[in-house]
Amino acid sequence: MLFPDYRPRRLRQNDAFRRMIRETRLSVDDLILPLFAIAGKGVKNPIDSMPGHFQLSIDNLVKTSKKACKLGIPAVMLFGIPDKKDPLATSAYAKDGIVQKATSALKDKIPDLNVITDVCLCQYTDHGHCGFVDGQIIDNDATLDLLARTALSHAKAGADMVAPSDMMDGRVAEIRNILDENDLSNIPIMSYAAKYCSAFYGPFRDAADSAPKFGDRRTYQMDPANSLEAIREVTLDIEEGADIIMVKPALPYLDIVCRIREEIDLPLAAYNVSGEYAMIKAADKMGWIDGKKVMMESLTAIKRAGADMILTYFAIEAAEELRA
Ligand code: PBG
Repeated sequence: MLFPDYRPRRLRQNDAFRRMIRETRLSVDDLILPLFAIAGKGVKNPIDSMPGHFQLSIDNLVKTSKKACKLGIPAVMLFGIPDKKDPLATSAYAKDGIVQKATSALKDKIPDLNVITDVCLCQYTDHGHCGFVDGQIIDNDATLDLLARTALSHAKAGADMVAPSDMMDGRVAEIRNILDENDLSNIPIMSYAAKYCSAFYGPFRDAADSAPKFGDRRTYQMDPANSLEAIREVTLDIEEGADIIMVKPALPYLDIVCRIREEIDLPLAAYNVSGEYAMIKAADKMGWIDGKKVMMESLTAIKRAGADMILTYFAIEAAEELRA
């Protein structure tokens, strides 16, 4: 049927029609809030490039998480900013590390909120790389044990799910093994499976103090030009035991989200990263865009592309908007 018989505008003429034919609905259930934990008490250091976000000491982390939970957000993703860094990232897997302490505090105070922990070494190594460094080389296999120990320590502290973001080969299997061996076979793994080497992580690296001191992450994170490779990466992680697959970043990679959605039947997450957040906040501040509307449109677009869940620094604002 063609114009003038078919007129698409017939079903757009009022809000009720538009609601009736809406294909994608963003829900608070889709949102995961990333948070940054730091030592101390009463600490709330603003992150300049991420307005509204802070490095939070555990007391304040609990406060913000309570607010998120009240709004119906099902989970937070925890990142730690440790007191000390060293070549072996020892504070990443220390029993009294910042993420371990924050996790047990959150589970103690807000048992209904799921705590997902980011498993990586870059915040904890003195060189800022995500793996063990030998000369100029990031040694894949030497890193696996450190990652596995980190994931185990998070799970032992009470994490509901662990999320490896390092992009070393074989880490999902290694983490699955160590969890299973320690009677933690019920802890799911959310794998940052297709994680690109992206300049959109800039603000995060300021927030987490995790920029590499030499070189870049191109030998382990994916080339932004590749899409078939994303399928290979995702397939590998599923074979190794991943329960949830993630694509990261989100907005510049919606084609990847869409493609992976068609390829796999596991739950799919997309990470709306720090740079995506910062750009919207900056343009809003300049008065160049309506930040709230652009936020809701962006999150809806990520869901429309096929993501089941969205990690986003907008989680609280979006949840408030959805409730309004
Ligand atoms: C750790 C990690 C990074 C992000 C999540 N986990 C930084 C990186 O890979 O350099 C980025 C998150 C964001 O930009 O919001 N490897």
